[in-house]
Amino acid sequence: MTSDFIQLGYIVAAVLFILGLKGLGKPRTAVRGNALGAAGMLVAVVVTLTDNRILSFWQLGVGLVVGGCIGVLLAVKVQMTGMPELVALFNGFGGLASVLVVGSSFLEVQSADVNVAISDTFTIAAAATALIGAVTFSGSLVAWAKLRESVGSFGFAGIKVVNAALLFGGIVLGALMLGAPTSTGLLVGVIGCGLMLGVTGVFPIGGADMPVVIALLNSLSGLAASATGFALGNSLLIVAGSLVGASGLILTQIMCVAMNRSLPNVLFSDAPVAGGGADADEVYAGKVTSTSADEVALLLDTAERVAIVPGYGMAVAQAQHAVRDLTRALEENGTEVVFGIHPVAGRMPGHMNVLLAEAEIDYEKLIEMDAINPTFAQTDMSIVIGANDVVNPAAREDPDSPIAGMPILDVDKSQTVVVIKRSLSPGFAGIPNALFAADNSLMLFGDGKQAVADIAAALKDV
Ligand code: TAP
Repeated sequence: MTSDFIQLGYIVAAVLFILGLKGLGKPRTAVRGNALGAAGMLVAVVVTLTDNRILSFWQLGVGLVVGGCIGVLLAVKVQMTGMPELVALFNGFGGLASVLVVGSSFLEVQSADVNVAISDTFTIAAAATALIGAVTFSGSLVAWAKLRESVGSFGFAGIKVVNAALLFGGIVLGALMLGAPTSTGLLVGVIGCGLMLGVTGVFPIGGADMPVVIALLNSLSGLAASATGFALGNSLLIVAGSLVGASGLILTQIMCVAMNRSLPNVLFSDAPVAGGGADADEVYAGKVTSTSADEVALLLDTAERVAIVPGYGMAVAQAQHAVRDLTRALEENGTEVVFGIHPVAGRMPGHMNVLLAEAEIDYEKLIEMDAINPTFAQTDMSIVIGANDVVNPAAREDPDSPIAGMPILDVDKSQTVVVIKRSLSPGFAGIPNALFAADNSLMLFGDGKQAVADIAAALKDV
């Protein structure tokens, strides 16, 4: 392939990535955006492999078929609730791929003719890739385990100092590579600092800060790829990596604003305080009122305005279609129905929007936190489906709570709150929720999908 064709291929891929990102900005065009991005990646892979004559055409074909099958299998098999974990793994493998690619280029350079000068650009880019890629890899694996709730938050006094020392150590070892660009020991040292920093950096982060970290790791995977592009002199990697890095940083900033946190506060705050916040027995004892689907239907029959607040439990229960049916039944009854969407409800950015769009719930009904909060006082009933932390008043009222300062959906200000969940178990932040014991709250215990279907059925008989 001539150089002109290769450059043309790279430009086509870059344009497809940019159009893809643009499409992903709106729910209506998101599917097309995704397809354009995937097409861009296909062009990029084929052009790069053909250009470098890394593989023959038939090997390329086999690789595409095998990779495509794995992709289809993952897409079909992975439950919607597993998507956030899959995304965390993808971020991590992106970081690992960057480290491996730059490692192999490093070995190539090391074994090359001693008289061939190694540029400082290569060395700086290789060190940056090694550090950022390694942090992304180990940090994403910890994030993956935390999203699965296999591990909790963990920290110790002085962890900030350890993190700062690891970051500083990685940068110093990387800078020393400028004087000894073929030193395996220095490169391994940088990777080692990065791997440890990923673990000690992400482990202590929990509660309201986890979404910020997920967005940041996504951004870092792009920055690592971009640095790899500089090391290899590959313009497409630089463009694609920068797009991921920049969009991830924008998302990180959006998450920080939504969570009322600053990035340094998230990254360098103290280790979580064990037992911070109130005790469950203290919060719930003798104060929780449970209800039935029939009673909720009776209340709904006279309600003029209802706000539905979905959370992670709606994803677990796959209740979105039942929620759509209930919404239609209520609207046929003359009730206005809106949805309150918290920016970190669920386990990934936009989680609730994706689920509700899948159930074809009109996008105009989804109202963001800042817009819906002032309207709860005029809402007859809020129905909270599998949401917990994002409606926990402790964020507003308890300065010792792990979610203190996080803006929440003020459902407690509506006339009646019905909370649908299976038990009084806590949400992701692991803390009790005084909303469940509030005077205007009714608990409808059960699986989200079943409970919503039961209310819709009871509504017909009212
Ligand atoms: P959570 O606070 O995690 O609460 C989810 C609730 O759903 C649980 O209390 C659970 O109670 C209930 N549930 C689970 N399965 C259910 C089912 N089948 N039917 C009905 N209810 C069910 O969810 P949230 O309010 O959406 O808050 C999100 C949390 O995740 C925040 O702390 C946020 O910081 C964190 N987080 C978010 C992200 C992003 S980017 N969105 C990423 C990482 C972490 P039961 O077990 O009693 O049913």
